[in-house]
Amino acid sequence: MPDKEKKQGTNISRRNFLKGVGTGTVAATVAPSVLIGSEKAADAQAGDAVANATIQLNINGKSYQIEVEARTTLLTVLRDGIDTSGSNIDLTGAKLICDRGECGGCTVMVDGKSVYACMMLAIDAQGKQITTVEGLADGDDLHPVQEAFVQHDALMCGFCTPGFIVSSAALLNENSKPTVEEIKVGLSGNTCRCGTYPFIFDAVKTASRKS
Ligand code: FES
Ligand code: FES
Repeated sequence: MPDKEKKQGTNISRRNFLKGVGTGTVAATVAPSVLIGSEKAADAQAGDAVANATIQLNINGKSYQIEVEARTTLLTVLRDGIDTSGSNIDLTGAKLICDRGECGGCTVMVDGKSVYACMMLAIDAQGKQITTVEGLADGDDLHPVQEAFVQHDALMCGFCTPGFIVSSAALLNENSKPTVEEIKVGLSGNTCRCGTYPFIFDAVKTASRKS
């Protein structure tokens, strides 16, 4: 695995990169909570820990028992995990895009804060409340952020949308009346290749009026 992670033509592995990045550089673009466990994830993915473990996760208010390798990320469990009763977890709203903490497509909430699920080990999510985009609506009642995204047509291809919606909901948890500048900073860890940013910012502003 370490060789695979080396970028072609360089001698920099993901593990060393994560260890070497100064916190000042990263903190400018990514919320600190997003980086929880990133170094541990890099260590584990580099092959330092491959033991199996049976873990208990609380996802969208439901408890799951899952057997995982220690290096398994939370995103992998959400999308592809099978609990010990044989049921697929199958929460595919969080997307696997960059797999390196750059795009925000995998964003979920952990204890109310936005986290890149591709950068968090599943074992580190034990004992925490995990909320995915599937868990935001209350039955048929959409979350105010989801309603506002529909109202403002804040998506094109939609691939980034679950991550933006979860990040927006987490932002409103911390700051229910953000300014447009605060919305831009709060969502700076998410990327939309279709360029729907103005509609997304309008949607979050609208949702904030309802919260
Ligand atoms: S897939 Fe996790 S940040 Fe891009
Ligand atoms: S709507 Fe297509 S990437 Fe954002």
